[in-house]
Amino acid sequence: MFFRKKEPEAAPSPSATDTAGSTSVSLVVNGKSVTATIDPRTLLVNFLRENQRLTGTHVGCDTSQCGACVVHLDGRAVKSCTVLAASCDGAKVTTIEGLAKDGKLHPMQEAFREHHGLQCGFCTPGMIMAAVDIVNRKGGNLDEATVRHELEGNICRCTGYHNIVAAVRSGAAAMGDTRQAAE
Ligand code: FES
Ligand code: FES
Repeated sequence: MFFRKKEPEAAPSPSATDTAGSTSVSLVVNGKSVTATIDPRTLLVNFLRENQRLTGTHVGCDTSQCGACVVHLDGRAVKSCTVLAASCDGAKVTTIEGLAKDGKLHPMQEAFREHHGLQCGFCTPGMIMAAVDIVNRKGGNLDEATVRHELEGNICRCTGYHNIVAAVRSGAAAMGDTRQAAE
């Protein structure tokens, strides 16, 4: 059997980053105005984790599969690994750190705690942010099939779906009909 000798990989061009330049972005994160100079290729999830040190938003796949990175962008759930931070100029972003108010857990967080809707907890921030978005769109009276269907973009590798679904339904009921409420 012959093995072809691997060609040495070309060294990355030292000017690749330099030529990309930088850009300024201003947005409101969890109610706080922030402005930063960033590489235009920076993903929102990396901006939040590395620039803003908001590490509650997780990276599980980086390929838009797992939902660990879900945040709210102008009130709608997005997978922040698929969004360029530079495209969020002027936007409002809410992360898991922004849900609790005045030291009190958000009803959806409280429901996950109450129903033990987590095991390792890695998927939990994305699950909760997605769940709040479901309630904002569909109201607080959610049946099991709807919750399971709506959460299909969120993967729990601990497979704790039974308790997660129970937590989302309970949190939804506690939130009530928030479809008109602004974040
Ligand atoms: Fe964004 Fe998995 S890290 S979907
Ligand atoms: Fe571990 Fe969901 S609780 S990945």
